[in-house]
Amino acid sequence: HELQMHLEEIEKGGYDHFMLKEIFEQPRSIRDTLRGRLLPDEGIISMSGVKEYGAKFENASRILFVACGTSWHAGLVAEYMFEEFARIPVEVEYASEFRYRNPIITEDDVVIAISQSGETADTLAAIELAKKKGATIFGICNVVGSSIARASHAGAYTHAGPEIGVASTKAFTAQVAVLALIALEIGRRKGALTESRFRSLISELDQIPKKVEQMLESEDMTVSIAEMYKDVSNFLYLGRGYNFPVALEGALKLKEISYIHAEGYPAAEMKHGPIALIDENMPVVVIATKNGQYEKVVSNIQEIKARNGKIIAVVNEGDETIREMADHVIEIPDTDEAFTPLITTIPLQLLSYHIAVMRGCNVDQPRNLAKSVTVE
Ligand code: G6P
Repeated sequence: HELQMHLEEIEKGGYDHFMLKEIFEQPRSIRDTLRGRLLPDEGIISMSGVKEYGAKFENASRILFVACGTSWHAGLVAEYMFEEFARIPVEVEYASEFRYRNPIITEDDVVIAISQSGETADTLAAIELAKKKGATIFGICNVVGSSIARASHAGAYTHAGPEIGVASTKAFTAQVAVLALIALEIGRRKGALTESRFRSLISELDQIPKKVEQMLESEDMTVSIAEMYKDVSNFLYLGRGYNFPVALEGALKLKEISYIHAEGYPAAEMKHGPIALIDENMPVVVIATKNGQYEKVVSNIQEIKARNGKIIAVVNEGDETIREMADHVIEIPDTDEAFTPLITTIPLQLLSYHIAVMRGCNVDQPRNLAKSVTVE
């Protein structure tokens, strides 16, 4: 037993928990996922699975993402990317709902299954069903040779390395990175992206690991925010567009490991319910990066402040408008809006981690949760 403990300490590589180690591995895990596929000097993306099934993707009448948990959130980010870059209609489905409702699937559908473990029972059953109905199945898995990888016609692995912490961190960003590559490449093939836009996007994507590294320097800030809010019983997370799924993921991370009730919402939906919850005891994490709806998110922040809610804002570098209104500000390095989820996710992971540690929770093995859910 002692030897086992000792081995585990070595595996944690000097970090207190696997989760923290895995959060800090993200510059590397994203880089590994892009390596050999994203070739900015040549101006190309090279992925064998996408090449082989290129015609299927280009002619797809729609793309259906099926996944569970955090992987489902990666699917939501991908929805925005595929519709923007490739101009293909997208649906994102909880595998568990999809498989039981006799879904309409045709041979022109491409189903992309996203799964870290590649063993999630509902996701596996969903693709078996879609396969029977003639769809093309593309798997995005982290575990090589896993059931979902084997059941797919083609696929692309995430190269995040083994993820031990039950709450997914580096697997999520690796999924988003690989989905960005696919969306960009399909967009280029379809002519939905001009050559120059494609090139500028791939050189921006190439910069992401470095920017994630820079983002990890915000850890101290997340520690001090965690100290202030560790004892609250509720948290709200808001975001729009590409950062709406990040709000969901931020809330899920907090629930999973700290047992604080948290909800993620698209910011514009606040007025249809969550605003009723806001008082001086409600911290609201707002991902308010510059995008088409920035001004509207600024109004959401004003509405929250008018009700004495506490604002933790994730903003672009140098944003003075929100700095004046927010209680806490976390700045992210600039990038294309589509790639911001890869960066805005980082401080939310760190915030959840530190709150959970301060509350004395078992962050690597939260109660009632399993790393891979191979039964229903
Ligand atoms: C479990 C894990 C989550 C994960 C989900 C889907 O609930 O605790 O972290 O996101 O399963 O797992 P998958 O392996 O299919 O990505």
